[in-house]
Amino acid sequence: MKSSHYVGNLRTQVTVIAVCLVACCSSLKIGETCGSENKCDAGLKCDTCPANGNTRSRCTRIQPIGPTSKVKGLPFNRYTWLTTHNSFALAGAKSATGSFLVTPMNQEDTVANQLNNGVRGLMLDMYDFLNDIWLCHSAQGQCYNFTAFQPAINVLKDIQAFLEKNPSEIVTIFIEDYVKSPQGLTKVFQASGLSKYMFPVSRMPKNGEDWPTVDDMVQKNQRLVVFTSKASKESSEGIAYEWRYVVENQYGDGGMKAGSCPNRAESPSMNTKSRSLVLVNYFRDTPNRSQSCADNSAPLISMIKTCREAAGKRWPNFIAVDYYVRNDGGGAPEAVDEANGHLTCGCDNIAYCKENATFGTCDVPPISPPPPAAATATPSGGNQPAQSSSSPASSGYMDRPANLLQSVGTIVAAITFLTWL
Ligand SMILES: *[C@@H]1O[C@H](CO)[C@@H](O)[C@H](O)[C@H]1NC(C)=O
Ligand SMILES: *[C@@H]1O[C@H](CO)[C@@H](O)[C@H](O)[C@H]1NC(C)=O
Ligand SMILES: *[C@@H]1O[C@H](CO)[C@@H](O)[C@H](O)[C@H]1NC(C)=O
Repeated sequence: MKSSHYVGNLRTQVTVIAVCLVACCSSLKIGETCGSENKCDAGLKCDTCPANGNTRSRCTRIQPIGPTSKVKGLPFNRYTWLTTHNSFALAGAKSATGSFLVTPMNQEDTVANQLNNGVRGLMLDMYDFLNDIWLCHSAQGQCYNFTAFQPAINVLKDIQAFLEKNPSEIVTIFIEDYVKSPQGLTKVFQASGLSKYMFPVSRMPKNGEDWPTVDDMVQKNQRLVVFTSKASKESSEGIAYEWRYVVENQYGDGGMKAGSCPNRAESPSMNTKSRSLVLVNYFRDTPNRSQSCADNSAPLISMIKTCREAAGKRWPNFIAVDYYVRNDGGGAPEAVDEANGHLTCGCDNIAYCKENATFGTCDVPPISPPPPAAATATPSGGNQPAQSSSSPASSGYMDRPANLLQSVGTIVAAITFLTWL
């Protein structure tokens, strides 16, 4: 009796461990089916994309590879940065005035969260409002209670906190500028503690040269690049007028026609090489949260290639989307990784870049996982077929079920053994 009781206890314990290994402790890779019991790895989100006919919950990416940690020390314009359109327009938010909001929303997490997920470009619409500067999504240059999200200083302070906590990160702000109050922007940047990080206009290349390196920007602590849409602010406040430094395609529906990449009206034509930075917008006139997972996937990557041709064979430095966390597979983070691969090391994805290797030397993962140790009898001459352009993470998620199966196998064997006792 005693002994069998003991074995029974042990059996229960092993079963609990087995269940835990499969359920609680398992973390899932990109593409794997997930649910409340099966959590995705960090940096992934369990989501569907019905707009693409994909109703199975799978782990999808919400973070790009941090480009400067993978390939170090290049000029600022040799990287691509994930950028959020109307970064502040948080779905479901209420106006800080207390009013309800009647205006389109473009993102589903806060700017602080976006920065933690690797977003490095922020598009902020700033207005004079209630004797302060506010982030509003409005019309005719006029902010109202029902279009006013919150005072700009709140979000600028979040950016300040991020830069302080992450001393080697660089953030770019694109201001859609409706501020008319004298020195209004200067005052709010000063009040937020961000002024000291601002990259000076005097150091921005004016004729298509390379930007300083990211190392130089970090070392001088000039880690905040700010552009305004108002030309006059460059001389009046020393804030760079965006289209002296950046070419940018049409935003909204006009920028989503497959195969064409026209410049927006304020920007010089895409192939203007005297502008060292290239920005690609890819979002609708009217944001559609459920459609964005489809938009942010294959069509986005295709548009980046179209815009690269239009921009004189230059990959974008900024990729701006709505609902950046929404995608079907890789999404905006994947698009950013691909552009970064081409820009930083000449590979199809920054995941394939090799440390200190010459440009174009790539570490492309094999298409299939290595066979389990027991089955490696076949002579392999290292001629694994190479994968040319699909998701880097596909190499990771293929071997996951095999690992899981192996540990499940071990546990089943252990239980069987105990049953025999
Ligand atoms: C707008 O919000 C402010 C701040 O809450 C309030 O003082 C003001 O009365 C509101 N204006 C309107 C028109 O509701
Ligand atoms: C938003 O996208 C969904 C999915 O593609 C679509 O069914 C819906 O009609 C769209 N809504 C609007 C207002 O366009
Ligand atoms: C790459 O270069 C850096 C700087 O010269 C060096 O510290 C690092 O060890 C090198 N890494 C490899 C893998 O060779």
